Amino acid sequence: MGGRVVVVGSFNVDHVWSAASLPLPGQTLSGAYRSGPGGKGFNQAIAAVRAGAETAFVCALGDDDGARLARTLAQADGLHLHALTAAAPTGTAGIFVDAEGRNSIVIGPGANAALGADCVSDASVWNEVAVTVTQLETPAEAALAAFAQARAHAALTLLNPAPANARVPQALWPLTDLATPNETEFAAQLAALGVEVDAAAVATLDDDTLHALCRRLLPHGTVVVTLGAAGVFVSHADPRRYADEAGAYRLAAAPVSAVDTTGAGDAFNGALAASLARVPARPLREHALFAVRYAGLSTERAGAAAAMPRADDVVARFGA
Ligand code: RIB
Ligand code: NA
Repeated sequence: MGGRVVVVGSFNVDHVWSAASLPLPGQTLSGAYRSGPGGKGFNQAIAAVRAGAETAFVCALGDDDGARLARTLAQADGLHLHALTAAAPTGTAGIFVDAEGRNSIVIGPGANAALGADCVSDASVWNEVAVTVTQLETPAEAALAAFAQARAHAALTLLNPAPANARVPQALWPLTDLATPNETEFAAQLAALGVEVDAAAVATLDDDTLHALCRRLLPHGTVVVTLGAAGVFVSHADPRRYADEAGAYRLAAAPVSAVDTTGAGDAFNGALAASLARVPARPLREHALFAVRYAGLSTERAGAAAAMPRADDVVARFGA
């Protein structure tokens, strides 16, 4: 069944308020409330395991109800949880969602901030690893250590450079095989290199321009820019490495009726990692198409980790 996925990153308890609009300074609104599991790392790990890959998740939790929620859910999904227990409470996210599905998020990192370089020292995490995934909701030291271990085990490294306000440590780029920014993260990481791009205009750029920008961001690797309803743009340094015939191309988004896009990017990353780990010989185009469909389906259900579909759901809806 192929190799395993290792995800290193955050777990949050998401507190979500849905209202007609996002609250303005000084404003009080009334809306619907729900809570559920989230955090970019956990969402990606649940997506990877539900997409069919044996998956390990390395994170930091508190000693509280949030931690018990993470453990219970990991066990229910067969996710191998490697959690250190921090003195701080389990991470939280306060999420406001408006009637158009737009959101504003405040993160309380809590225990996530305690995830350091030593988090990846447990050798059992790295058994048969094929793909390693990380993001920037946990400290840079954890991401760097994760990719160093991945390199030592000849695993593919997938960097989701999210959230957009987090800087990718310069030393992480040379360790990255594949990066998956959304438009905002793409513009933010290019800005850090001194290249100015309007995030809102990224999806409308022509393919040659987008390809050139991707090459600036990750000259030796592959960039998949996720464009929401506009699908994804794939840009290779070496298409043969991933059995693709073209160096740059677009894939359209899947036709879905979105009710909640929270975690859609995480769904894409988890599904992409799982597909790459399970059937590595396939062209990247096929892995990306599966991930686009998987992410689309995740938006038809409310919630983040809880909304992740199964590989069978994708086949039932869109065909193989
Ligand atoms: O990517 C979505 C996630 O971002 C949410 O689950 C929330 O926890 C924030 O981390
Ligand atoms: Na969702």
